[in-house]
Amino acid sequence: MCGIVAYIGQQQASPIIIKGLKRLEYRGYDSTGISLYDGTELHTIKTTGKVSDLEAKFQGHDPIQATIGIGHTRWATHGVPNDVNAHPQTSNSGDLVVVHNGIIENYASLKEELIQRGYTFSSDTDTEVLVNLIEDVQRKEKVKLGKAVQIALTQVVGAYAIVVFDNKKPNELVAARLGSPLAIGVGEGEFFVASDATPFIEYTKNVIYLEEEHLAIIRCDRDISIRKITSDKVIKPYIEELQMSLENIQKGGYDHFMLKEIFEQPQAIRDTLRGRLLSNEGVITLSSLREHENKFLKARRILIVACGTSWHAGLVAEYLLEKFTRIPVEVEYASEFRYRDPIIFSDDIIIAISQSGETADTLAAINIAKERGAFVFGVCNVVGSSISRLTDAGCYTHAGPEIGVASTKAFTTQITVLSLLALRLGMVKGTLSRSEYQQHLVELESIPDKVSEILKQERLIKEVASSFKDANNCIYLGRGYNFPVALEGALKLKEISYIHAEGYPAAEMKHGPIALIDEQMPVVVIATKKGHYDKVVSNISEIKSRKGRIIAIVSEGDVRVKELADYCIEIPESLECFTPILTTIPLQLLSYYIAVQRGCNVDQPRNLAKSVTVE
Ligand code: F6R
Repeated sequence: MCGIVAYIGQQQASPIIIKGLKRLEYRGYDSTGISLYDGTELHTIKTTGKVSDLEAKFQGHDPIQATIGIGHTRWATHGVPNDVNAHPQTSNSGDLVVVHNGIIENYASLKEELIQRGYTFSSDTDTEVLVNLIEDVQRKEKVKLGKAVQIALTQVVGAYAIVVFDNKKPNELVAARLGSPLAIGVGEGEFFVASDATPFIEYTKNVIYLEEEHLAIIRCDRDISIRKITSDKVIKPYIEELQMSLENIQKGGYDHFMLKEIFEQPQAIRDTLRGRLLSNEGVITLSSLREHENKFLKARRILIVACGTSWHAGLVAEYLLEKFTRIPVEVEYASEFRYRDPIIFSDDIIIAISQSGETADTLAAINIAKERGAFVFGVCNVVGSSISRLTDAGCYTHAGPEIGVASTKAFTTQITVLSLLALRLGMVKGTLSRSEYQQHLVELESIPDKVSEILKQERLIKEVASSFKDANNCIYLGRGYNFPVALEGALKLKEISYIHAEGYPAAEMKHGPIALIDEQMPVVVIATKKGHYDKVVSNISEIKSRKGRIIAIVSEGDVRVKELADYCIEIPESLECFTPILTTIPLQLLSYYIAVQRGCNVDQPRNLAKSVTVE
């Protein structure tokens, strides 16, 4: 949560920082600010609202010529979103400014000590405590900025990515991280620091992903100097080449990133399969699995940890892995797992699923599993992310940047990777016959084209959306592999349209939720031919006889459900285990169009942020 952008070099800093912050708004968008040093003084401009509000305020300001500056877009944790609580936060002397992503957990006690030493505070933020703590260290220890930041951070408990600027040392930025990401773009005589690489993609392809507990002192007249926060040993930076392009992070003619990302799914799934699924040769290769396959084959149990949509992908994986490998699987919310003293055997395998690779709860769950000796396998989208580094092995989904806050292509590509994993393990273990394996490979290869077919029904889905846009509640039902899709459909609707929605296994209806059904209640039912079809048809009849309004996701050529449902959206036939990838698509479009027709901000829904780097 929260996005950071900083620049030091020869160019005007403000346009780079403001454009960069816009790209990071997916991380938070309730207030924002920028500090620029023009050669004589520091200018800080902050505002409640979005980066466009900051831009407007900035344009109303006298021009500021500055080649160094720091900026921030906020997702509030401590203190309501307002101008005062927005970052950058300034120290009492007015010399130091800090932008921060994370939470300083012991800020209250640190603040108390600083107050006793005469410091005053104008905001409610933990960040103002941090900037004054750094100033206090500078004063007491008479050390340079880098050292002062280092000493101050050793007193801090919590998570942070920070960039600090000192008015008295105007040719230097200090950046540090623990638990929140920071990428440093290395240009010709210029450096960029940001929460991810998107703000500097058009300026440089050279990136350093700052490691956990590392601190960087950045001066454009010198090389960057990196050290551990807990020691003075200088570490040689590892410069990587960025694989992303500017095109990847633009809307490309779509109204919203979410819509673009929904439509990118055929290609994203192809990219996930590329080089891994060779159906002609009858092979799945997952290079990262090769040396660890035996661990999977001997595993007592697989535990899957994730949050939100990624947790839903984990539920689909439970069905896939148990069916094909016969290894027992448990799926846990990472946030629950980490605090319940879980029983983990050394021959358990943990699979951590995360689009961003930065989710704080998932990271904490991985740490616990590793401490207890389990092998951790990651499924991440963001290359170089914290989770991808922390896990023992893993597979990237290769979905490309997902910028819309509501996850879409991340989900379908996670299921694709997990399908490859389950099929490969099942074949090697012998729990899946060679012919079934081959049949699944061929079908999986056809999934991107089937997704494209479903996307052609956009207009129909838009019409269905217009009939339901004024609903206050909605129920989603599915069974088997499609029960997690019902949960995911409900999550998509509530997060972007603010309609209350719940997903249930269809058979659970009779145990309570059926009491909610009346002529006002829309019920979305996944009723594909493969997968308990007759039972779901009975569930639909039960809803119909109580006057519920039914939107059904059915297989092509369906007749029985069409007689009962108010609206039907068809998907091509497939093997049951792959239907979640297909049935999800109409539900994503339905949520999207309902939200658009209700006038909601689809890409930046209220109260949400894309990567949840705080608990
Ligand atoms: C919902 C959504 C969230 C994320 C969750 C986990 O559309 O995006 O529920 O799925 O915050 O995020 P990652 O996958 O980045 O760990």
